[in-house]
Order: sequence, then C-alpha cells, then structure tokens
Amino acid sequence: MKSRVSIGFGITFVVVGLAVSRVSWVAPAAADDTVAAATAVALTAVGGEGGSYTYIGANKCKKCHLPEHKSWAKLKHATALEALQPDQATEKKAKASLDPKKDYSKDATCVACHSVGFGKPSGYAIPDAADEKAVKESKELAGVGCEACHGPGSEYSKLHEEIMKSKRKYKQDEMYAAGMNKMDEKVCLTCHNEKSPTIDKTAKFDFAKKKDENTHEHTPPKQRE
Ligand code: HEC
Ligand code: HEC
Ligand code: HEC
Ligand code: HEC
Repeated sequence: MKSRVSIGFGITFVVVGLAVSRVSWVAPAAADDTVAAATAVALTAVGGEGGSYTYIGANKCKKCHLPEHKSWAKLKHATALEALQPDQATEKKAKASLDPKKDYSKDATCVACHSVGFGKPSGYAIPDAADEKAVKESKELAGVGCEACHGPGSEYSKLHEEIMKSKRKYKQDEMYAAGMNKMDEKVCLTCHNEKSPTIDKTAKFDFAKKKDENTHEHTPPKQRE
C-alpha cells in the first residue's frame, strides 16, 4: 500500500500505509524514483512497515541528553528555519541568487530541509500565522532537530527510558528496531545535496569531519554492548 504525494519542485514523499500506520522515515528531499526506492529500503532498515513512529520534538530528549542538547542548540542546525526569514543570512542568499528580503520560511521547497519531518503526518507543518497554538507547537520541530538525524523518537525514547531505569546493557539493533536511524553519511545527504540552493558544489561532503564539527558534543554511550 503505497501512495505518493508530490509537492513543489518535484519533491516526492512516499507515504507507506498512511491509513493504518504512521511510518515516517522519508528522506526530506527524496526527488525521484531511485531515491524513493532507497527510502523504501531504509524504511525496512529502521523497523519495517509495522512501526508507527512519530516525532516528539527536541525538548523531550533534553532531560536525558543535556550535553547533546546544549551543544546542538548553539549550532546552526537548531536555527535553520530562522535562516529562511527575511534579512537573515543575507550574504549567502544573495550569492545563491535568492532574495534576501523575501520570507522563505513558509515556502515548502525550502522548509523541507530546514525542519524536522516536513510533509509527514507528525512532522513539521507550516502553521497558519493567525493560529497561535499551531505557531507555538510548530516551534518544537522547527530547524534541524534531533529527530531529523536520529529518526522519529516516539518509540525509541520509551526504550531509552527503560534502559536508563533498568541500567541494563543494550544492542544498537534494539534502537534501530524502535525507529532510530543508523547514523551514517546517508542521513546527512538527504539534505546536504545539490538541491540545496546554497551548496558549495565544489566541496565533497566530508562526513567524519562534519559530524564532529556541526552535530553536537559527543558523550560515548556507557550501556551500549
Ligand atoms: C533535515 C536536513 C538536514 C540533515 C538531515 C542534516 N543537515 Fe546539516 N544542515 C542543514 C541545514 C538547513 C543547514 C544550514 C543551517 C543554517 O546555517 O541555518 C545545515 C548546516 C550544516 C553544517 C554547517 C554548514 C556546512 O555545510 O559546513 C554542517 C557542518 C552540517 N550541517 C553537518 C551535517 C551532518 C554531519 C549531518 C548528518 C549527520 C547533517 N548535517 C544532517 C540541514 C540538514
Ligand atoms: C535539499 C535540501 C535543501 C533545500 C531544498 C533548501 N536548503 Fe537551504 N540549506 C540546506 C543545507 C544542507 C544548508 C547548509 C549547507 C549548504 O549551504 O548547502 C543550507 C543552507 C542555507 C542557507 C545558509 C544559512 C546560513 O546560516 O548560512 C540559506 C540562507 C538557505 N539554506 C536558504 C534556503 C532557501 C531560501 C531555500 C528554498 C529556496 C532552501 N534553502 C532550500 C539544505 C536545503
Ligand atoms: C545533524 C544531525 C544530528 C542532529 C540534529 C542531532 N544529532 Fe545526535 N548524533 C549525530 C551524530 C552524527 C552522532 C554520532 C554517531 C556516531 O559517532 O556513531 C550522534 C550521536 C548522538 C548520541 C550518542 C552519544 C553521543 O553524544 O555521541 C546521542 C545521545 C545523541 N546524538 C542525541 C542527540 C540529541 C538529544 C539531539 C537533539 C538535541 C541530537 N542528537 C541531534 C547527529 C545528530
Ligand atoms: C528518559 C531518558 C531518555 C530520553 C527521553 C531519550 N533518551 Fe536517548 N538515551 C537514553 C539512555 C539512558 C541511553 C543509553 C545511554 C548510554 O548507554 O550511556 C540513550 C541513548 C541514546 C542514543 C545512542 C544510541 C546508540 O546508538 O547507542 C541516541 C542517539 C539517543 N539516545 C538519542 C535520543 C533522542 C534523539 C531522544 C529524543 C527524541 C532521546 N534519545 C530521548 C535516555 C533517554
């Protein structure tokens, strides 16, 4: 059961079994059939079609992962949606032939890579400016939050809580089975690709270097087997 919804610049979102389950691992910039096929494979890798993972927002991770949260909050991923507002990052915009005076923060083509889970049932949705509640709620998933890289956290955060309380050892496979992404270059390349209007096309994405430079401070897990 698969349906495809196309938004803007041919960005294709694959929604698997929308009516029954809310599976939500989809590359934000999935652009063609090849990527769509890869996404379907990735879905299996993070727990298969039976999972129903939803986004819960970076604040929910904060109480247990304070060093990661604090260091993430200082870096540009956290404020990536703000960069789309008028008079922000003006030089980069001008250089990429974008209009520095224009508000791109409600432009689906841009928001797709500057927020968490855009276009998915529980992901970031562009709020109606008159709806105060929606505006407030949307802040939880604005910018490139934890779950943009680690995957939708509804299930694995419960697993983490259980592991914390029981103090037992765990295998990383348990994390993946609960909806967590395997962390590798592919996660980053869903956004760091040539569909980004500001990308430096001459530079190759150096995963090893960038993951330390621009994700957050790392505290090695102690209970992992
Ligand atoms: C959901 C999309 C998305 C994902 C996934 C993502 N990024 Fe980013 N990244 C962005 C955006 C958008 C910016 C620009 C933010 C700004 O400057 O306001 C950015 C900026 C950066 C920067 C600073 C600019 C640069 O290119 O040097 C680094 C470094 C970076 N990301 C590394 C990573 C790494 C490493 C990963 C994977 C572990 C990753 N990103 C995953 C969207 C993403
Ligand atoms: C395919 C994903 C993707 C799309 C679509 C996308 N961006 Fe980005 N954006 C990124 C990434 C990744 C970065 C950081 C590295 C780079 O410049 O590519 C970034 C960086 C930026 C920056 C620089 C921010 C800073 O603080 O230096 C601006 C400005 C920006 N994007 C604006 C836009 C606008 C406006 C659009 C829509 C017209 C857009 N982006 C669409 C992924 C994307
Ligand atoms: C841009 C992508 C990205 C974002 C956003 C991100 N992380 Fe990570 N995270 C990573 C990478 C890369 C690693 C390192 C994985 C490795 O070394 O195997 C990691 C590792 C971790 C780890 C394992 C321990 C450690 O510190 O290395 C925890 C816990 C974690 N992240 C929590 C968070 C939380 C909480 C947030 C949000 C506040 C967050 N992450 C946001 C990419 C990201
Ligand atoms: C109730 C506390 C709690 C919450 C909430 C929580 N975690 Fe965790 N998390 C843990 C514990 C405990 C571990 C295992 C740490 C260890 O081994 O030292 C862990 C491990 C991790 C790891 C490393 C997994 C691995 O590969 O070994 C990542 C990444 C991570 N958490 C991200 C997140 C993100 C993102 C969120 C929010 C969506 C989140 N966590 C919510 C407690 C929590």
